[in-house]
Amino acid sequence: MKFMYDDVEVSIARLLEQMTLEEKIGQLMQLSPSLFGAFGLTKDEIIAQMVNGELSYEEFSQIGRDYHEDKIRAGLIGSMGGVTGAAKVNELQRIAVEESRLGIPILFGLDVIHGYRTIFPIPLAEACSWEPELARETAKIAAKEAAAAGLHWTFAPMVDIARDPRWGRISEGAGEDPYLGSLMAAARVKGFQGEDLSNPSALLACAKHLVAYGGAVGGRDYNTVDMSLQMLHDVYLPPFKAAAEAGVGTFMSAFNDLNGIPCTANRYLLSEVLRKQYGFQGFVVSDANSVAEVMVHGYAETRKEASKKALMAGVDMDMSHGTYEEDLPQLLAEEQLSHADLNEAVRRVLRMKFALGLFENPYRTTPEQEQRLLLAPEHLTLAREAAQRSIVLLKNENEALPLSRGNKKIALIGPLADNADEMLGAWAISGNPNNVVTIREGIAAAAGGDTQVVYAKGCEIDDNKSDFTEALEAARGSDVVIAVVGESSNMSGEAASRLNLGLPGRQEELLKALHAAGKPLIVVLVNGRPLSIPWAAEHADAIVEAWQLGTLSGHALADVLFGDYNPSGKLVATFPHSAGQVPVYYNHPNTGRPTGEFKFTMKYLDGSTEPLYPFGYGLSYTTFAYERLTLSQSEVTADGRIIAEVDITNTGNRFGEEVVQLYVSDVVASRVRPIKELKGFAKVALQPGECKRVAIELEVASLGFHNEFLEYVVEPGRFMVYVGPNSKDGIESEFVLIS
Ligand code: GLC
Repeated sequence: MKFMYDDVEVSIARLLEQMTLEEKIGQLMQLSPSLFGAFGLTKDEIIAQMVNGELSYEEFSQIGRDYHEDKIRAGLIGSMGGVTGAAKVNELQRIAVEESRLGIPILFGLDVIHGYRTIFPIPLAEACSWEPELARETAKIAAKEAAAAGLHWTFAPMVDIARDPRWGRISEGAGEDPYLGSLMAAARVKGFQGEDLSNPSALLACAKHLVAYGGAVGGRDYNTVDMSLQMLHDVYLPPFKAAAEAGVGTFMSAFNDLNGIPCTANRYLLSEVLRKQYGFQGFVVSDANSVAEVMVHGYAETRKEASKKALMAGVDMDMSHGTYEEDLPQLLAEEQLSHADLNEAVRRVLRMKFALGLFENPYRTTPEQEQRLLLAPEHLTLAREAAQRSIVLLKNENEALPLSRGNKKIALIGPLADNADEMLGAWAISGNPNNVVTIREGIAAAAGGDTQVVYAKGCEIDDNKSDFTEALEAARGSDVVIAVVGESSNMSGEAASRLNLGLPGRQEELLKALHAAGKPLIVVLVNGRPLSIPWAAEHADAIVEAWQLGTLSGHALADVLFGDYNPSGKLVATFPHSAGQVPVYYNHPNTGRPTGEFKFTMKYLDGSTEPLYPFGYGLSYTTFAYERLTLSQSEVTADGRIIAEVDITNTGNRFGEEVVQLYVSDVVASRVRPIKELKGFAKVALQPGECKRVAIELEVASLGFHNEFLEYVVEPGRFMVYVGPNSKDGIESEFVLIS
């Protein structure tokens, strides 16, 4: 998507000529509705005044409105975060457009990460569908609802590669792989932005968090990141490059420092890579308060110096109030910043407002439009389908699943079995639990009249005192036990790193007690990260990874449990056997002593180096056979293409879909290469007994890497090709790249 057009650039130039210094700086700040600190009072002081009755909530709100309205009327607010509702947005926009001196419209933004009011599965779950087109469609609907509610800009998609499930924000992205992560990044950008940003249903997207935020040491959110530039360009940057190529209008700089320089003040990242190498024409927004935090990192003596470094590095808008607003006038007065620097940042912000059509059409929605579009039936239908396709079947033995609808007594147990709030997952800011179909409701609706569902909570998500009596009675009197366990929504997402990757509280004890009842035990996981569940993996009859599926959780899960939808999801992040293995991921080098029987090879004295479930893993209610892998050539040049073909047969008795995965290994290179890298996949639907010959095209140019001189190279030599159902199993072939 192109943003620079001559006529727009002329309009921007004219505006810049008219704008005062204050008006220009106002375009570079995003005011959040959080009034705390908005007018020199700390949060505690404001709360104290309200508690003491010195300040009523109405007065508090009015202060906020006055504060905002005065500044809007003075043309000093370029963007607002967190304000929603067609009526509210139009009211504030009217002040900006009709009462301020130049009538520059405000950019209203919010975190619309996986849906606005219709909440879709968390992004990590949706990525397990391996369907970029589905991700594009849900992003499109999210944009439609959010735009109807007055929003212009979403702080999404989050495209951070994450190899460490201790890091709670793994829930917000597309997992550990750069190839799949890049496809999902591009799909989500295109879904949010559509073909034309000036379409009133489009949202300006924001690829975040630039960069390598998921590489934080120890999986501790906000922690330092240190890695080679080769690793950065080969693994962590590709989804950002894909977002840029997909035409994303904004990027968000990350909280973390990268190799000693905070991302929010990192000129190499924000100017060299993003603008020179990727040709990005939009604007960069900081993360919340991350400009000021450049000082906390120890990269600036004062906040003013932090502001200078951030703006000079390429952060155009400050997501907070007070930093740029207060520091830029001084920096300009002291000639530490030039007016040319300031104008360039303002130009980029105005360019996006023109691209959105806000100057021609500042009131893009109405309360009636909002009322009509939120939770529209077709949105809920998509939410159910997306949720079905996000579910991953991890284990299914003794024909535990799918459940039959004969007269059955189902014991439905667990702290997440009848819970609406926790189905939405992290960053479901505008979702409403009242709209959620709980798992209990979904199962009851699907089970049919002859089946009795007996529910007992069993324990809390994270407590140490619950009594299992009622749950065990229900289990003993049932034909099958469904235990729904996992995490609360706030156990993943931001500031939610976990040391322990097991089930919180006494949930595993509950599973063991239920297992002792001797009935078939189906474990359903509701969680925002890969979990380490070796006991369940060994003892449960079936395990369904349901993630946090959003508004239609209950129906979608029931569709899978009763076989109305045959699960087709595949993991996009490795499930470790234990937190001690982390980081554990599939695309790792071979090393000189790969794990083996011999003592002096890579191993732990007290556990396996193998993950519990590998990247790309997921079962079906049917089975598939892979045969007859052929390559279109045995030799190819760097500018060539190879077509891999393989026979996939549905060898079971039920319709199913399979994600056929193609991995490549560059056997010998000028830097050691991963033993496998995902370089293609195809999701195929097969009737029982049906065979299809699946072709996956491989662009040889995509097999390169950044060498020791940071040049992207595709080197001659032998390449292995693996095609299979996950990153571990499959059939192989090979070809030679000739120079
Ligand atoms: C948060 C997050 C970022 C989000 C922003 C606005 O701190 O890091 O992902 O978009 O603030 O809510």
